[in-house]
Amino acid sequence: MLGKVVISHEQIERVVRKMAEEIDSDLEGRSPVFIGVLKGCIYFFTALTQAIRHPVEVDFVQTSSYGSSTTSSGSVVLIKDITTDVRDRDVYLVEDIIDTGTTLWDLVTMIQARHPRSIQLVTMLSKPSRRKTDIHVDFIGLEIEDIFVVGFGLDFAEQYRNLPDIHEFIPEE
Ligand code: IMP
Ligand code: MG
Repeated sequence: MLGKVVISHEQIERVVRKMAEEIDSDLEGRSPVFIGVLKGCIYFFTALTQAIRHPVEVDFVQTSSYGSSTTSSGSVVLIKDITTDVRDRDVYLVEDIIDTGTTLWDLVTMIQARHPRSIQLVTMLSKPSRRKTDIHVDFIGLEIEDIFVVGFGLDFAEQYRNLPDIHEFIPEE
């Protein structure tokens, strides 16, 4: 069941602007490729990259989703790979939300093997209490408690992605 709004569209816009400013000052002298993790990243990724002044290249990966569950199965499968050669490039990996950290951990391992110059991790939301991996995230929009959320790209069973605000989602008993 769709619950109350936990983060409004206006709040997301403010967070995106602040993150874009921080990332812009980090981009001086870099050769950045922004890699979005589909599908959840779509609205955050487009808002963030358009708010960044520095020219950036974009690419996407897609990993397996939770299906119709609200908890991670713990194994990540790559469905779509990037087409960019990231050797000697500065990679910014952009996620909608980091929960256990398993997805990012696996993606970082995969990208690291292709010898980029650097990898920075960027996420709109983070649930620090759920972390199972010791991963350093460079840019975090907002930290949230352990609730399942939908909207602004985030889904439950492919539903609710296009909601402009972020809502709590309460699974049916
Ligand atoms: P992790 O591998 O456990 O960090 O899970 C990360 C992925 O799980 C995210 O990219 C989302 O696609 C999904 N996810 C985690 N928490 C939520 C949530 O509250 N709502 C919607 N999707 C979520
Ligand atoms: Mg995701």
